[in-house]
Amino acid sequence: MAAVPWTLSLMTFLCCGTHAHCLASSYVAAVYEHYVILNPEPRVPLSRREALQHMRQNVQVYEQQAASAAYQGAQIVVFPEDGLQGFNFTRSSITPYLEEVPDPQQESWNPCVHPERHPNTEVQRWLSCMARRHGLYVVANMGSVQPCSSTGSSPGSSDSSSGSPGSSGSVPCPADGRWHFNTNVAYRSDGLLVARYHKQNLYFEDAFDSPPRAELVTFHTPFAGTFGLITCFDILFRQPTVALLEKGVRQLIFPTAWMNQLPLLDTIQFQRALSLGANVTLLAANIRSDELLMSGSGIYSPSSAVYHHAQSGDPEEGRLIVASLSALEPLHDPLPTGLVPQGEQGDTSAGSCPAEGCSAPHTFTSSMMHDPFTFVLLRGAGGQLSVCDGSFCCWLQYQSTHTNHTELYALGAFAGLHTVNGRYSLQVCALVKCAGTEERSCGQEVVQADTKIDFVLKGTFSTRHVYPSVLSSHYTLEQPTRLHTTPRGSVTMEHSSMSGGLVTAALYGRMYHLDPH
Ligand SMILES: *[C@@H]1O[C@H](CO)[C@@H](O)[C@H](O)[C@H]1NC(C)=O
Ligand SMILES: *[C@@H]1O[C@H](CO)[C@@H](O)[C@H](O)[C@H]1NC(C)=O
Ligand SMILES: *[C@@H]1O[C@H](CO)[C@@H](O)[C@H](O)[C@H]1NC(C)=O
Repeated sequence: MAAVPWTLSLMTFLCCGTHAHCLASSYVAAVYEHYVILNPEPRVPLSRREALQHMRQNVQVYEQQAASAAYQGAQIVVFPEDGLQGFNFTRSSITPYLEEVPDPQQESWNPCVHPERHPNTEVQRWLSCMARRHGLYVVANMGSVQPCSSTGSSPGSSDSSSGSPGSSGSVPCPADGRWHFNTNVAYRSDGLLVARYHKQNLYFEDAFDSPPRAELVTFHTPFAGTFGLITCFDILFRQPTVALLEKGVRQLIFPTAWMNQLPLLDTIQFQRALSLGANVTLLAANIRSDELLMSGSGIYSPSSAVYHHAQSGDPEEGRLIVASLSALEPLHDPLPTGLVPQGEQGDTSAGSCPAEGCSAPHTFTSSMMHDPFTFVLLRGAGGQLSVCDGSFCCWLQYQSTHTNHTELYALGAFAGLHTVNGRYSLQVCALVKCAGTEERSCGQEVVQADTKIDFVLKGTFSTRHVYPSVLSSHYTLEQPTRLHTTPRGSVTMEHSSMSGGLVTAALYGRMYHLDPH
């Protein structure tokens, strides 16, 4: 190993204090939120030379950031989805941007050392040399192409790191005889290609195909053990995210180009929620674009969150985040996942009001994230209330510690299939600030809040996959004071002494087993 920069030992010291045990297992990670230099006409086909000239401009920014990350002691740097080419290509106009990425399970290749081995692989050489030059692992996202024959054979047939069959069954080779994949690539600090992952859950990406089978891709590092790779929309689905966790992977790398959607799916909010709910580390790198509502990147462990979220009016620019964190060992005894056994549910105290101080309140339906939530309003400075959507119930005990009477709050419950911009099944309990003073404004997007609330929020879920979050005014994350889960599906989140006004407190349950295929 090269000499360790002084910043590394300083950060390790800050993180770990005097616990010698901690020193051995801590490492420094960096994520870069990138303001992409765009092709202004992504639907117009370019030559390969022009496409490379375009991507070169973005790679030059990556190069500076990799240097800065390495200088700050980072051992790994993560760049966002679509960060090299941008968005809105057609299947044909993306072509000059694509490269064939060989399967690292089949072939050991260092593009920086042996660039001539595969033709038309300039982007891979740039990234590999970046890792080698700065002596750190580099994870980036790019477009890749893989020829296939329409007669039925499929690529990467014996990829040993992709052992688990996907739920998608066998997808035929596209009619033009080529797969176009949205691809994460990872390079070791000497430039060796160590992982290649093809995004499973595409989000309105006309230029790309889903791989024929869902891939579970991991790579090993000497400083932190194993990392798994996912991309953007993947984070909401069993394949590959939960499938990786079920294999014992506890550190996920997450290039993304995520359009923010309050009150439940803001970037940093869901990044934090996944890390907390699954008890894992997440290295999340997003694009920065005001027009596309993209910002929010961070480095999350179950006990820490170092993140950045642009505020309205901030200059539109990139941001490097560097943090020290402890490597998470794989759990030998993974937590129970999946369904809560039938018949064991129904911790009755969660769903219904205790007799005292809790009358049956007026409920109303309002749309939140395009889903019909059933809401009750919070009235007065404190109390307890519950709300149910069918047999799924949420319960809240609360006490305002800083009250602003112009602000309206509501407790909402939703159980069902989300159907807009993706289809996935949910059970959600959420305490939200309403955007206005009317019932129908509850569930709408709001960024600023003044009221601070100590609360206990509880739901009885039929899934074990529940992702908790507390988001306060102007995109500030708060660490819940206490989280508690019972084997019977009851999840309790307590929080007090808020630092800012409450925007959303949510328990976001994913009912993967009810997702349509
Ligand atoms: C891409 O297209 C969408 C609509 O399809 C549009 O809203 C967005 O602004 C476009 N983005 C770019 C970078 O051209
Ligand atoms: C999270 O993982 C750690 C080990 O890294 C374990 O000690 C802890 O009990 C886990 N927390 C929960 C809530 O499962
Ligand atoms: C109360 O909240 C509103 C809306 O969030 C805010 O505009 C106003 O400044 C707050 N009032 C006080 C007295 O802080």
